[in-house]
Amino acid sequence: MFAQKLLPALAVFSVAAAQTSTICSQPTVTVNSQADASQLSDCSTVSGSIVIGSTASGTIAIDGPQQVRGNLTSQSAGGLVSLTSSTITSIGGEFRLFNLTFLSTLQFDALTSAKTIYWEALPALPSLAFAGPLSKADSVTISNTFLTTLSGINLNTVGTLQIDNNNNLKQFDTQIANITNAVNINANGNQLAVTFPNLIWAANMTFRNVSSIKIPSLATVNGSMGFYGNYMDSIAAPNLTSVGSFATGVGSLAIVANAKLANISFPALKSVGGADQIANNTALHAIAFPALTSVAGAIDFSGNFTTPELPKLEDVKGGFNIQSQQAITCSGFEEQSGGKGSIIQGKFICKSATATTETLDGSASTTGGSSGSSATPKSDATNFGLSQAALGASFIGGLLQMIL
Ligand SMILES: *[C@@H]1O[C@H](CO)[C@@H](O)[C@H](O)[C@H]1NC(C)=O
Ligand SMILES: *[C@@H]1O[C@H](CO)[C@@H](O)[C@H](O)[C@H]1NC(C)=O
Ligand SMILES: *[C@@H]1O[C@H](CO)[C@@H](O)[C@H](O)[C@H]1NC(C)=O
Ligand SMILES: *[C@@H]1O[C@H](CO)[C@@H](O)[C@H](O)[C@H]1NC(C)=O
Ligand SMILES: *[C@@H]1O[C@H](CO)[C@@H](O)[C@H](O)[C@H]1NC(C)=O
Ligand SMILES: *[C@@H]1O[C@H](CO)[C@@H](O)[C@H](O)[C@H]1NC(C)=O
Ligand SMILES: *[C@@H]1O[C@H](CO)[C@@H](O)[C@H](O)[C@H]1NC(C)=O
Ligand SMILES: *[C@@H]1O[C@H](CO)[C@@H](O)[C@H](O)[C@H]1NC(C)=O
Ligand SMILES: *[C@@H]1O[C@H](CO)[C@@H](O)[C@H](O)[C@H]1NC(C)=O
Ligand SMILES: *[C@@H]1O[C@H](CO)[C@@H](O)[C@H](O)[C@H]1NC(C)=O
Repeated sequence: MFAQKLLPALAVFSVAAAQTSTICSQPTVTVNSQADASQLSDCSTVSGSIVIGSTASGTIAIDGPQQVRGNLTSQSAGGLVSLTSSTITSIGGEFRLFNLTFLSTLQFDALTSAKTIYWEALPALPSLAFAGPLSKADSVTISNTFLTTLSGINLNTVGTLQIDNNNNLKQFDTQIANITNAVNINANGNQLAVTFPNLIWAANMTFRNVSSIKIPSLATVNGSMGFYGNYMDSIAAPNLTSVGSFATGVGSLAIVANAKLANISFPALKSVGGADQIANNTALHAIAFPALTSVAGAIDFSGNFTTPELPKLEDVKGGFNIQSQQAITCSGFEEQSGGKGSIIQGKFICKSATATTETLDGSASTTGGSSGSSATPKSDATNFGLSQAALGASFIGGLLQMIL
């Protein structure tokens, strides 16, 4: 009697267990409905991938599993409104959401890590509910969403960070200390404030169309750092000592076409591997790199600024091209130029509003260094192999408020 009751129960249990273990270990589980999702509720680990099918609609909650070893993806599920999980802590592969037109709730309260986050074309998603928060990912791409904030993503480590075309994004603040590959933030509408309070080390960094950027602790950029078309009035990198590698000549600093930029502050920057380029910042009237010692590429400044302050220059392997719409003092720099053995070893150009009347033909210029001692001030033109007669006024001496 007892045995008769027990047997069917056991049988039911083992069928369920078999089903559970099968679904938990399938290479791909396709979820088209909440009923499909609920079949995963007894899996603590999903060893394969979960695909939310394009016919899924309404609300899908994947509650139960803690780990997804493969991917979690959903693509072109036009009816999907809400995707949630209160239990998933890690996604071993890619968390990919693409072209989910009506997705307005994305809530993963336990998620702390994913190998890759790739979210693109989520036009109805206003915010994230990630209480975790998500703190670890090799690569994060968030593109073309309706998100106003990325709070819920607070990375400790990341390789690549790509945040673009999120027109409503107002704020991105992350505790991250090290960006091992690249950060690229661009075209996110014109009110995005980016804050990296703890960032110390980064490979490449590119910022476009950003309204403010805070990098108070940044000490090293191993690759290139570029600011293009931003809206901030100042850029300060108080702890930054190097951009790129002087030894390999790789990694440039570029500050280009930031229309409101009035103040740049790089008080500790000592070396730049590639070029140090500043151009088309119409409101920038002063340039100073008080600690800059070594530049393996070129120094290339153009715009409307007073004489740049470069008091510590010791070694510029590339050219030197400074062109200002204001009257600036070229003589001090000129004394430093003159090829091998000089501070400035490459081609030398210094153009000042009032000092030059010649039209410098870049193609006709020769590299510096061929023309004698750097101790004797020479006109700009001499360095370019132009004849002295071609010059209007030469601009030598007298103007030694130079910072040398
Ligand atoms: C996960 O996604 C990546 C990138 O899309 C793909 O290469 C990989 O095969 C997927 N893995 C699984 C288990 O589906
Ligand atoms: C996006 O999803 C819709 C269905 O919601 C589909 O009709 C459309 O073709 C998809 N677009 C792309 C680029 O995949
Ligand atoms: C950041 O990561 C890179 C690459 O793994 C490493 O070389 C570098 O030392 C790290 N920097 C810091 C400050 O942890
Ligand atoms: C970093 O920048 C350098 C020079 O600008 C470029 O050659 C390299 O491909 C970039 N790397 C990444 C990962 O973006
Ligand atoms: C700047 O660098 C110094 C010396 O490495 C360090 O003591 C200081 O904490 C850094 N400042 C910030 C804001 O990280
Ligand atoms: C974003 O910046 C780029 C320059 O990098 C510029 O061409 C573009 O017009 C800017 N977009 C907006 C919306 O300001
Ligand atoms: C740092 O940059 C150099 C090139 O200047 C490159 O060889 C090296 O791999 C980079 N290091 C890291 C950790 O990315
Ligand atoms: C430029 O910025 C630096 C650092 O943020 C600040 O100390 C300085 O006062 C600013 N200069 C001007 C002219 O705004
Ligand atoms: C500066 O602007 C001019 C005119 O728009 C353009 O020709 C030039 O390429 C720009 N320079 C840089 C470095 O972007
Ligand atoms: C350069 O800037 C000054 C203000 O510092 C301004 O008066 C002048 O018109 C500007 N020149 C050009 C050519 O933009």
